[in-house]
Formats: sequence, C-alpha cells, structure tokens
Amino acid sequence: MFATLRPVGCHLLPILVFFFLSLTSVRAQSDSTGTEVASDTSTVETATSQGGISDEAVIAEGESLFNANCRVCHAVDQQLVGPALAGVYDRRDMDWIKSFVKNSQAVIASGDDYAVSLYEDYNQTAMPSFNFSDTEVESIIAYVRAEAEKEPEVTAAAGDTPGVSSQATEGPSNFLTVIIVGLVIVLALILVVLFLIINFLTKFLEKREGLDSADREIIAQKFSLGKLVKKPAFVGIVAFVFGIFVLKSVIDGLYQVGIQQGYAPKQPIAFSHKLHAGQYEIDCNYCHTGVRKSKSANIPSANICMNCHGQILTESPEIQKIYAAIENDQPIEWVRVHNLPDLAYFNHAQHVAVGGQECQTCHGEIQEMEVVEQYAPLTMGWCINCHKETNVNTKGNAYYDNLVELHAQHSKEPLKVEDIGGLECAKCHY
Ligand code: HEC
Ligand code: HEC
Ligand code: HEC
Ligand code: HEC
Ligand code: HEC
Ligand code: HEC
Repeated sequence: MFATLRPVGCHLLPILVFFFLSLTSVRAQSDSTGTEVASDTSTVETATSQGGISDEAVIAEGESLFNANCRVCHAVDQQLVGPALAGVYDRRDMDWIKSFVKNSQAVIASGDDYAVSLYEDYNQTAMPSFNFSDTEVESIIAYVRAEAEKEPEVTAAAGDTPGVSSQATEGPSNFLTVIIVGLVIVLALILVVLFLIINFLTKFLEKREGLDSADREIIAQKFSLGKLVKKPAFVGIVAFVFGIFVLKSVIDGLYQVGIQQGYAPKQPIAFSHKLHAGQYEIDCNYCHTGVRKSKSANIPSANICMNCHGQILTESPEIQKIYAAIENDQPIEWVRVHNLPDLAYFNHAQHVAVGGQECQTCHGEIQEMEVVEQYAPLTMGWCINCHKETNVNTKGNAYYDNLVELHAQHSKEPLKVEDIGGLECAKCHY
C-alpha cells in the first residue's frame, strides 16, 4: 500500500515547482513595471528642478568665466593642476573663496592654515590672481555647483540609457536570478517537509502490527545518499536547476553580443586627448575635420600632428613615431574604437551640425581621457531612445519651419526626432 506513496510524491514535486515558478514570474514583472514608473518620475523631477531663467543666466556666465580662466588648471570633479572644485563651497565659505580667487598668495601669506596646507599639497604651485568682482566669483561657483550636481545624472542618462537598452540588458538577468534563488529556497523547504513526513510515518508504522513483508521492507529502509543520487526524481531536479543556470548564462551572453561599451584599445602612439583636447584645449574639429560636414568624423593624418610637432617635443620617442610614419609614407595604424556594423547608417554632420548634439553626449568626456574608450553602448536601443527623447534643433533652421507649424497644430510637445522619422527603419538601415 505504501509502495505507491513515493511515486505520488515524485509527481507532486515538479507540480509545486512550476506553481512557484509562475508566482515568481508574476512578481518579477510587477517589479520591473515599478522601476519604470520610478524612472519616469525622476525625469519629471529633474526637468522641474532646473531652476529659473535668471539662475541659468548666472550659471552660463559662470561657465564662460570658468572656461576662459580656470579650466586650464581645474575641473569640476577631477584633480588637474589644482584640486577638483566640486564641493569647495562646502569646504570653505564664500568670503574665503572670493579672497582666494582674487589673490591666493595673499591668503597663503596671511597664514591661513587651510590655504597653507593646500599650497603645500600642490607642491607650492601658485594660482594666479584674478581681478574679478564678487558676483563674477559667485557665478563661477554657481556653475561649479550646477555641474557637480548634474554629473551623475548625465552619466545615468547617457551611459546606461534608462529606457530600451538598460531594461533589455538587465531585465532578463535580474528576473532569472530571482527565480533561481526562489527555486532553491523552495526546493530546500520541500525536502525538509518531506523528510519530516517520512520520519513521522515511519515511526507510526513501525508501531503497527499486521503489515505484509513488502511494506515492512520499505519501512526498514534507511536514508542513503548513494541511493538518493540514483533516484530519477533527484536526477531530474538537479538537471532542471542546472538547465536553468545554463539558460541564464546563455541569455546574458546573447544580450552582450556585439556590445563593446568600455572598449579602450592600446594605440600605436600614446596620443592623449586629455592633454591635447583637455589641457591645451585644441578644438575637436581641428583634428576631426569631417565631423561638421560629412558622415565620418575622420582620424587626423600625421600631417596635422606635424603642424605642431614639427617644433614641439621633437626628441620624444612617441613623436619620433610620427616622423617615421611620414618618412615611410605609411599611415599611423590607429586602432578603431567605435564601429557600427555595416547594416547601420550614422551621420556625424546630421547630429553635430544640424542636430546641435555635443560630442560628449555620445562619446563621454573625451577631453579627460588619456586613452579613448567607447562610452555609449552604440546599440539600436540607444539610438532609438535618444530619438524619442531629444527635441529637434529647429531654431534658425528655415527647413523645419513648416514642420514645426504642422506639428504644433496637433501636439503641445516640442518637435522630437521621432516626429521627423527618426524611428523609421530605412533611415538607419541601408
Ligand atoms: C595656473 C593654474 C590655476 C588656475 C588658472 C586657477 N587655479 Fe585655482 N588652484 C590652483 C592650484 C594649484 C590650487 C591649489 C592651491 C595652491 O597651490 O595655491 C588652486 C586652488 C583653488 C581653490 C581652492 C580649492 C580647494 O579645494 O579648497 C579654489 C576655490 C580655486 N583654486 C578657484 C579657482 C578659480 C575660480 C579659477 C578661475 C577663475 C582658478 N582657480 C584658476 C591652480 C589654478
Ligand atoms: C590633436 C588632434 C586631436 C584632437 C584635438 C582631438 N582628437 Fe580625437 N582623436 C585623435 C586621434 C589621433 C585619434 C585616434 C587615436 C585614439 O583613438 O586615441 C582620435 C580618436 C578619437 C575618437 C575615437 C575614434 C575611434 O576610433 O572610434 C573619438 C570619439 C574622438 N577622437 C573624439 C574627439 C573629441 C570629442 C575631441 C574634442 C573634445 C577630440 N577627439 C579632439 C586626434 C584628436
Ligand atoms: C595644436 C598643436 C598640437 C597638435 C596639432 C598635436 N599636438 Fe601633440 N602635443 C602638443 C603639445 C603642446 C604637447 C605637450 C608638450 C609638452 O608637454 O611640453 C603635445 C604632446 C604630445 C605627446 C606626448 C609626447 C611625450 O613624449 O610626452 C604625444 C604622443 C603627442 N603630442 C602626439 C600627437 C599626435 C599623434 C598628434 C596628431 C594626431 C598631435 N600630437 C597633434 C601639441 C599638439
Ligand atoms: C549622436 C551621437 C554622436 C555624436 C553627437 C558624436 N558622435 Fe562621433 N561617433 C558616433 C558613432 C555612433 C560613431 C561610430 C560610427 C560608425 O562606426 O560608423 C562615432 C564615431 C566617431 C569617430 C570615429 C571615426 C568615424 O568617423 O567613424 C570619431 C573620431 C568621432 N566619432 C568623433 C566625434 C566628434 C569630434 C564629435 C563632436 C564634434 C562627435 N564624434 C559627435 C556618435 C556620435
Ligand atoms: C544624443 C542623441 C542621439 C543619439 C544617441 C542618436 N541620435 Fe540620431 N538624431 C539625433 C537628433 C537630434 C537628430 C535630428 C537632426 C536633425 O535635426 O536633422 C537625429 C537624426 C538622425 C537621423 C535622421 C533622421 C531623419 O528623419 O532625418 C538618422 C538617420 C539618425 N539620427 C541615426 C542615428 C543612429 C544610427 C544612431 C545610433 C548609432 C543615432 N542616430 C543616435 C539625436 C541622436
Ligand atoms: C535610429 C536608428 C535606427 C532605427 C530607426 C532602426 N535601427 Fe535597427 N539598428 C540600428 C543600429 C545602430 C544597429 C546596430 C546595433 C548593434 O550593433 O548592436 C541596428 C541593428 C538592427 C538589427 C540587428 C542586426 C544584427 O546584426 O543583429 C536588426 C534586425 C534591426 N536593426 C532592425 C530594425 C528594424 C526592423 C527597424 C524598424 C522598426 C530598425 N532596425 C530601426 C539603428 C536603427
């Protein structure tokens, strides 16, 4: 009679497991809609917290003063010649900052402890004096503060694009992790419960008289690991869990195929954007001559380097490599960092010259990179997401006048790239 008990248990297990599976999947789905809502409200918040027009004017003035006078030595969130300026308004009060900017040497000479130790920390590099009014210094600090508060948002918005791409890459991974952890816990619980039941029944039956010999044999069985491992039910469960792990890693892998974010190959010459575009502020267009007028940005030829390196650092071994390339009439073999597959069409002039997009939106803070690294995922989801969110730069572009008028008749939203066909397959695919 009890010989039938076990097979029933074995059938019951998978049923329980699948019941639980469907429960967790429902929960994981509601989790992911929850995060969607949260990210929506955060964009609304940032849109409204951007302050009034007068604030923006002050910040803009601060930005141009900062770029013209301070950028050579300071960045907001990075130490260059001088300290990163983010948070300086917390470290010091405004009066101190004003006198330091106007005449740092006077503050140090006055014996101010903080200034003296800072000066020592920076190897006694003297910061020049600036003949600024109080409001000018205030505007610079307002700009620094705005940048410092903006920084993480910018990377969050452009780096792991909240919409399509990040959900696509993280979604399945989190989802499966939840399921697997849940499964393991439930299986463990079921095992414990079954073990307890069997124990209880065995004890109960041992005390009973009048059982036939087949049933006696079953009761007399002792738990044995060797036997357990050979049981089809056990093998089935192990295979099932193992299968899920394999499936999860395959799916994770598939979502990463072709995504090269963070790729930063070593280049044949140790060319530094941080030095050229950052410290010496050489304009991107000076080297990437095509970026405003053609599809490709172009990598500069050795001749462009020679405009300066004909005279600068002529003895440096790295610069000698430029001379060698020119002498042998061989182009420098730069390793390509960004590379869309052939099936996709991307045009720089359209985005930079017409669309008014900054290089940094798609390439990150290139002017701070020693070695160029791929900043954006360059997936289709990334392109589409930006086209859904970005307004078309219609100001002073007569080409768009009719479109803007038409669009305004049926929508209060500004004209977005998706409204001019930015989601049409044929625009991006040959
Ligand atoms: C030639 C390089 C140079 C320039 C240009 C420069 N600084 Fe500095 N700055 C420094 C150095 C170096 C220090 C560290 C203190 C020292 O050595 O005197 C410093 C320190 C500071 C500090 C104190 C930072 C802290 O962490 O307490 C402030 C504020 C500051 N600079 C603001 C400015 C502003 C604003 C400008 C532009 C108007 C500017 N600096 C331009 C080199 C520079
Ligand atoms: C002095 C010349 C020069 C200036 C100025 C310059 N670049 Fe470059 N850039 C190069 C060279 C050379 C390479 C190829 C070597 C490398 O990848 O570092 C390159 C590579 C790049 C790449 C990667 C290309 C690839 O292989 O996919 C990007 C993106 C880039 N630059 C953007 C910028 C931006 C943005 C600026 C302005 C902030 C800028 N560059 C300023 C010379 C320059
Ligand atoms: C507009 C002027 C200018 C152009 C164009 C330019 N450089 Fe430079 N480069 C500089 C300056 C300035 C320095 C820093 C000099 C110093 O540190 O004394 C420098 C430094 C370097 C260094 C560091 C060398 C060392 O030994 O420290 C390398 C490598 C270099 N440049 C490569 C290039 C390459 C490759 C190109 C062409 C793609 C290029 N540069 C174009 C101005 C330029
Ligand atoms: C809207 C996003 C976007 C903006 C803005 C942008 N780029 Fe690019 N950039 C790309 C993409 C995508 C590629 C890869 C193109 C390909 O493989 O066909 C790329 C490639 C490059 C390359 C490699 C060579 C080439 O032409 O393919 C350089 C250099 C470059 N960009 C420089 C710049 C500079 C400089 C700016 C600013 C003036 C800029 N980019 C602005 C998206 C952008
Ligand atoms: C930072 C935001 C941004 C990203 C990222 C971006 N684009 Fe765009 N794209 C724009 C803007 C803005 C325009 C509108 C330019 C204009 O006014 O014509 C545009 C326009 C276009 C157009 C022309 C659409 C039309 O109907 O005329 C194509 C094609 C295009 N983008 C392709 C791409 C591809 C391919 C990628 C990804 C590799 C990409 N874009 C990534 C902002 C972006
Ligand atoms: C804004 C530009 C843009 C639009 C619009 C667009 N795509 Fe794409 N698509 C891309 C880019 C860029 C890639 C390459 C992505 C990568 O390498 O990861 C791509 C990749 C693909 C791939 C994958 C090819 C492969 O090798 O894996 C397919 C399929 C595809 N797109 C189909 C479509 C279809 C269908 C539409 C219209 C509904 C469309 N795309 C609209 C930019 C776009």
